[in-house]
Amino acid sequence: MNKKVWGGRFSQETDALVNSFNASIGFDHHLYPYDIQGSIAHCRMLANQGIITDEEATDIVEALGEIKRELDHGEFSFDEDYEDIHGLVEKALVDKVGPLGEKLHTGRSRNDQVALDVRLYVRDAIEAVMDLIRENRRVLVGLAEDNLETVMPGYTHLQRAQPVLLSHHLMAYNEMLKRDGERFSEGLRRVNIMPLGSAALAGPTFNLDREMVAGELGFEGISQNSMDAVSDRDFVLEFLFNGSMVMMHMSRLCEELIIWSSQEFGFISISDSFCTGSSIMPQKKNPDIPELIRGKTGRVYGHLISLLTTMKALPLAYNKDMQEDKEALFDASDTLQSCLEVMARLLREVTFREERLRGAVQEGFLSATDLADYLVGKGVTFREAHEIVGRMVLLAVDRKKELHELSLDEMKEFSRQIDDDVYLWLDPMLAPSRRNIPGATGPEAVKRAIEAAKKELGLEAPDS
Ligand code: ARG
Repeated sequence: MNKKVWGGRFSQETDALVNSFNASIGFDHHLYPYDIQGSIAHCRMLANQGIITDEEATDIVEALGEIKRELDHGEFSFDEDYEDIHGLVEKALVDKVGPLGEKLHTGRSRNDQVALDVRLYVRDAIEAVMDLIRENRRVLVGLAEDNLETVMPGYTHLQRAQPVLLSHHLMAYNEMLKRDGERFSEGLRRVNIMPLGSAALAGPTFNLDREMVAGELGFEGISQNSMDAVSDRDFVLEFLFNGSMVMMHMSRLCEELIIWSSQEFGFISISDSFCTGSSIMPQKKNPDIPELIRGKTGRVYGHLISLLTTMKALPLAYNKDMQEDKEALFDASDTLQSCLEVMARLLREVTFREERLRGAVQEGFLSATDLADYLVGKGVTFREAHEIVGRMVLLAVDRKKELHELSLDEMKEFSRQIDDDVYLWLDPMLAPSRRNIPGATGPEAVKRAIEAAKKELGLEAPDS
């Protein structure tokens, strides 16, 4: 049995059940690179402040480097005896350098140590997620460019509404992911604050140089209140929320891919290499991959809600409840990153079935709004035009025709303003081209949006 880092005050052995229930080593071992990185910076600072000697610091830093390499090579078992990663690293250090290793924890508590480790972890996770978001945006923008002029039905209430460009639809997701990336980058500012030097809650009696540690670890600043620094996990919650938002956006896109790949829609096919089959129905080809991303969204939301709930009634400062932050964070980060990785690949495996998209635009009176706008152009007020077109649709439904199949005489019954030129306005394929103000679905507007996105994402500009 290992000596506990807090053993002095205790006269009885810890119950075995308590040892295992209390331990976080089973999951916080993921923090080891950060724990060691933080310890090295702390150690150098202790020497700089004359709290330990330079020789002592050199020995400790060297041993910590060895421990890191051994951990990298899987040479430790993450046994519950260690309680947590901080205990494991300290024990390994003492094994290597003797009682000198016991000096490392001077002026430090596991409370500020774990706050530091988690901040370092989140900082890396954010960088990785931001890269993956950009990768997905590059794929989306590429798809939009390849399908720039493809017309498809746009929907509201999942009812055909107006013709839009497929490229515009895809670029909508680029916008969502762009904001998601911005949220992570804004959150990074708040994560990038160094908590070490807060000690347990009150700050240390030693004259620690916190700025030096922050500089060494690449932090932008130091925390301003020791009690806050060891007791809040808002930066983890922000990560979980930002991650939930990305998952929500991906889940909506996945939902569309699932619907679009159904026989009823038939707008896309997903390549065989990204689908799976059925053990009983030989004909089946199922969109499991977007379904799984949609499904895993619930898991990330769950971690957000669970940690919010864990935190909601904790008195200041540190409470052991906060140990529950880690599994939520690690699983959310892994899930988010694997989903983003798979999503970028999946999007490349989608083929759009242009003829099906075009066919779907022809049915369902998608030009009705343009017809009303046409009447406005002839001097009719919009409300009246809306009413007239509504009645025309009713007639068309009755006669089992589309609007463009009505004769000019049939249409003139509704408004004498209607002329031959109306048929141009009834062609759904032409509808997007009337909408080229910024943000609209016209080919010129979408092309400009693509160009701007490509520039921002460092992709080469399209030939103009
Ligand atoms: N494993 C603990 C956690 O994750 C580390 C901090 C322990 N601090 C303490 N005072 N028991 O929160």
